[in-house]
Amino acid sequence: MTQPREILFNAFAMNTVGHLSPGQWTIPRDRARDYNKLRTWTDLARTLERGLFDGLFIADVIGIYDVYGDGPEAALRSAAQMPINDPMMLVSAMAAVTEHLGFGVTANLTWTSPFLLARAFSTLDHLTDGRIGWNIVTGYLDSGARAHGLPSLIAHDERYARAEEYMQVCYKLWEGSWADDAAIRDAATGRFADPSRIRPVRHEGPFYKLDAIHLCEPSPQRTPLLYQAGSSTAGRAFAGAHAECVFVSGPSAGVIKRRTTELREAVAAAGRDPADLKVFALLTVVVAESQAEAEDRHAEYLAHASPEGALALMAGWTGLDLSGYALDQEIRYIEREGYRTQLENITRADPGKVWTVRDIAERCAIGGIGPVIVGDARQAADAVEAWVAETGCDGLNLAYAVMPETFEAIADHLVPELQRRGRFKREYRPGTLRAKLYGRDRLAAPHPASAHRFE
Ligand SMILES: Cc1cc2nc3c(=O)[nH]c(=O)nc-3n(C[C@H](O)[C@H](O)[C@H](O)COP(=O)(O)O)c2cc1C
Repeated sequence: MTQPREILFNAFAMNTVGHLSPGQWTIPRDRARDYNKLRTWTDLARTLERGLFDGLFIADVIGIYDVYGDGPEAALRSAAQMPINDPMMLVSAMAAVTEHLGFGVTANLTWTSPFLLARAFSTLDHLTDGRIGWNIVTGYLDSGARAHGLPSLIAHDERYARAEEYMQVCYKLWEGSWADDAAIRDAATGRFADPSRIRPVRHEGPFYKLDAIHLCEPSPQRTPLLYQAGSSTAGRAFAGAHAECVFVSGPSAGVIKRRTTELREAVAAAGRDPADLKVFALLTVVVAESQAEAEDRHAEYLAHASPEGALALMAGWTGLDLSGYALDQEIRYIEREGYRTQLENITRADPGKVWTVRDIAERCAIGGIGPVIVGDARQAADAVEAWVAETGCDGLNLAYAVMPETFEAIADHLVPELQRRGRFKREYRPGTLRAKLYGRDRLAAPHPASAHRFE
């Protein structure tokens, strides 16, 4: 019998107070309230590396959750992903105190030019020695569109069409502007770079146009490790073509299993090996020395949870003003331009399961739509192994209730138990983030990035 595979761990965080568990900042131990102190992040990075986490995934949104009650009050009161600072600024400090931890940083391509975004990621790829990944998002908040002078979000499928072209431009910049041997750094002749090995990217498409040399010399991975999280038809096609890692979330193992299968099919349909996609499923694990202690912790989290914050988040994700619903009214699917998968999750993903506003307020206040596991090390490891087996995912995207308490407990209790079972690494592999996951530094054919290489 083949040994079951090692399970990958991403810690899921955001440069904000209430990421997926609004209200927990009222527990004095919670450091997410100190999101604006660098020490919070450098301490977190050290904790994650101690626990051999593969990566820290930093979510981000551009805009405020102002759908619930048709205004920003609920999000502001409950600190539901608001205030929110820039995630990229955190990375070099965390890289300075770690050697192996990867960083998946969310950046919204709708509001940044490919030229600038490509430079930002190349810079971080240099400064992290190749430990940077990009979570490619197009946004789902109308408030973000209004902040940029548009009346509302660009239509769902057009966002993906833009994203497709955006990727081509980025690949040209990352992979094709500088040859591997362009930065010769030859002090004897005084030539830093060889101009004959550097060329401008000339691109003219329906959405983007540029004529420019990439501003950065070649970095360890060139293209950052590519993360994505779309599950709609257009989202899956995009992931199939480009993503190396995807984040999935859903209310049950059956839903995640279906999405995982569909995503691997999309990778195959794009001509790539389905094994070249790692799927990370959202989960919150409340683990402690004993079952009783874990249950106490969970009860404390529930007591501090903010139902208003949970509803503000869900309204922002789905585009539905849930304040207009009666508490026990069923939520039904309607076509929206925002985050389609989340609306699917609470309407038709699980046939027969009806979601009401009360369900969301009660069940999504800790860890969003993902399940919450509570128990001692053995119970948590059993549940994690079962979840991975049932969903077919490669790894977990671990949300926190209290930061960094949730991650410390995972490092102290769950990781050693999974190691004993042969389901978790005992040391990091050397090299870049891509090398750790896939054994290579750079994207290879048939991934579309490889077609743009200088040679
Ligand atoms: C686990 C997970 C994390 C996500 N994180 C972000 C994020 O940080 N920022 C963002 O704008 N969208 C985020 N999204 C939303 C996706 O980028 C995407 O908009 C969403 O999955 C809907 O895609 P779809 O319309 O193709 O279904 C996330 C989605 C999932 C499942």
